[in-house]
Amino acid sequence: MRKFGGTWSESKLDCVEAYTHRYLQVMQNQRWYSLDYVDAFAGRGKQALRKSSGSDAPEPESFFGDESERVDTQEFLVGSAIRALRASTSSTRSFDRFVFIDVDKPSCLELESIVLSDFHEIHDTVSVVCGNANAALGEYIEKVDWTHTRSLVFLDPYGLEVGWDLIMRLADTGACDVWYLFPLGGVIRMMTNDGQVPDTWRVRLDRVFGTNEWYDEFYRTSGQQSLFNDEASCRFKNASTDHVVDFIRKRLKTAFPAVSNAGILRNGKGVPLFALVLGVSNPSIAAQKAALGIANHLVKDLDQ
Ligand SMILES: C[S@@+](CC[C@H](N)C(=O)[O-])C[C@H]1O[C@@H](n2cnc3c(N)ncnc32)[C@H](O)[C@@H]1O
Repeated sequence: MRKFGGTWSESKLDCVEAYTHRYLQVMQNQRWYSLDYVDAFAGRGKQALRKSSGSDAPEPESFFGDESERVDTQEFLVGSAIRALRASTSSTRSFDRFVFIDVDKPSCLELESIVLSDFHEIHDTVSVVCGNANAALGEYIEKVDWTHTRSLVFLDPYGLEVGWDLIMRLADTGACDVWYLFPLGGVIRMMTNDGQVPDTWRVRLDRVFGTNEWYDEFYRTSGQQSLFNDEASCRFKNASTDHVVDFIRKRLKTAFPAVSNAGILRNGKGVPLFALVLGVSNPSIAAQKAALGIANHLVKDLDQ
C-alpha cells in the first residue's frame, strides 16, 4: 500500500526527504566526516502543479514534458533542493555543504534567489552549478577528499540523462549514498516490440545500462530461423516492469556493494514511469545495513 500521499512526483520527493532526515540522524554520531548533499538535477526549487486529465491529483508540469505550457497557478510542490535545505536546518546534525546542479540557467537563477532569500544564514555553504550533471558531478567527485567526506546524492532526471560512467564513479568513492530515479518507462518504450531498435536508441540504452547485454536479456530468440536469416526478426520482447527492475538492480550491484529494493512510481493511470532505488557505496557492512534498513522501509511505501 502506498503511504506517501499525492502524485508519483510528490511521493518520490517525500521518500528522499524522509531518508535525508534519517541520514542526518545517523550521521550525528560520525562528526569527524564533512557531510555533503548533492542534487544533480536540482530544478528551480519548486514545481508548479496543474490538474492532470487522468486523475484528480495535480501532476507536476514537468511530467507533461512541455515547459512552454507553463500555467498560471498558485499551487507549488516544494522541490528536492529546498527539502534538503529544510531538513538540514531543522536537524541537530546539518550538511556542511550543498551542491545543486542543473543544466537550465533560469532554474539555477531561481534556485539561487530562493537560497539567498530563504536560507540566507547558510547561503555560503551552497553552490549552484549550471551545467550538465554528468560533467559537473564528475568534477565534484574529483575534487572531494573522500577519506573525510560522506555525501548524499540525488539523481532525479527526466529520462535517460544519467550515464553509467557516472554511476561507477559515484560507487567508486566508497562514500556516497545515491538515490537514483531510474527511467523505467523510458527504457521500456525505447525497446521496440519487434526488436528493431534504432541505432541511436541502442547507444542511449547501452549508456544508461552500462552494457549492451540488455538486448539479449529482453529479446529472447523464438527458436525459429527467419526466411531472411535476420536475427532481430526471430526475437520477441520480454521486458515486464519487474524484469527491467531486476536487471537494473543487478547492474547497480556490479557497482555498489549494497542496493536497496526499488519503489515503482506510476502515473495516475497506473503506468510505471520510474524506479527509485538507493545505491550505497560505503564498504562498511554496518553502514550498508543501516542505509538499506531505512531505504527498504521507505520504498515499500511507494508501491501502489
Ligand atoms: C525531474 S526535474 C528535477 C526536479 C527537482 N529534483 C525538483 O525536485 O524540483 C529534472 C531537472 O533536470 C534538469 N536537467 C535535464 N537534463 C539535465 C542534465 N543533463 N544535467 C543537469 N540537469 C539536467 C532539468 O532542467 C530539470 O530541472
